[in-house]
Amino acid sequence: MLIVHTVAELRAAVAAWRKAGEHIGFVPTMGNLHRGHLQLVRSAREKSQRVVVSVFVNPLQFAAGEDFDRYPRTLAQDQEGLRQVNCDLLFAPSVREVYPKGLEGLSRISVPGIADILCGQHRPGHFDGVATVVNILFNLVQPDAAWFGEKDWQQLQIVRRMVSDLRLPIVIVGVPTERDTDGLALSSRNQHLSPSERTLAPVLYQTLLRAAKRLQAAERDYIKIQSDAVRELQRTGFVPQYVEVRTPELDPPTPETREWIVICAAYLGSTRLIDNVKIKLA
Ligand code: PAJ
Repeated sequence: MLIVHTVAELRAAVAAWRKAGEHIGFVPTMGNLHRGHLQLVRSAREKSQRVVVSVFVNPLQFAAGEDFDRYPRTLAQDQEGLRQVNCDLLFAPSVREVYPKGLEGLSRISVPGIADILCGQHRPGHFDGVATVVNILFNLVQPDAAWFGEKDWQQLQIVRRMVSDLRLPIVIVGVPTERDTDGLALSSRNQHLSPSERTLAPVLYQTLLRAAKRLQAAERDYIKIQSDAVRELQRTGFVPQYVEVRTPELDPPTPETREWIVICAAYLGSTRLIDNVKIKLA
């Protein structure tokens, strides 16, 4: 596996592969890789002749007071995991390498509407930061396809919209959420949970599953399903930011909707967790 830290080295490696006509798959990450990330790489591996993974904790998507500084940076461990899934190239640039002119005055990508709801409402500017860095990384790597996790469903929808609007010639592939045995969605942030919080954390997924079951059982009072879920989470000790029943495109559902996503964000202590469950009527 090649490990490069500069744009020049990245471009040189990718140019050679491209010249040889190889299909290039790309998985952008912020590192601290777990089984969920590695699943994306495995999926990319199956479909691509070359797989590039980036590890870059992107300051542009963290607001002041968020966890940019305490975000875990574990590059040596990440390299090990990536070797095991046969990644061809790890791109681990510095902030200066990605943003040589700094963040002030930087051209940005914004995807209005879909980036302003749900998590976007609670983290203003976050998804502009994501869309901008993903666009920069796409321009540097120039992949044929890129893999994203369904755990970050809103992010996946925003990336799809950006790629469609900006006519980027990149296929976006979504990968189902990897979970721990007790159902908790794997996340780099889980390690911030105290032992007692960790035992409570699976209630988030269980609550979403209960909401999903009600939809499946033909209940259509979305407001009631949402508020019951919020109350259930609060009883367990979560501080929910939202629990919403939406269409998979994240629009409000109508009585005719037959496919939903129940999507949520909640704090457990100082750790912010997100999760979602999709339901489709047969
Ligand atoms: P990060 O949180 O490191 O996640 C990188 C990718 O791994 C994302 O596509 C995310 O959805 C996916 N992922 C995380 N946990 C997962 C799980 N349990 N199962 C399946 N996939 C999972 O998301 C980001 O980084 C950043 O916003 C990024 C897109 C890299 C831009 O900076």
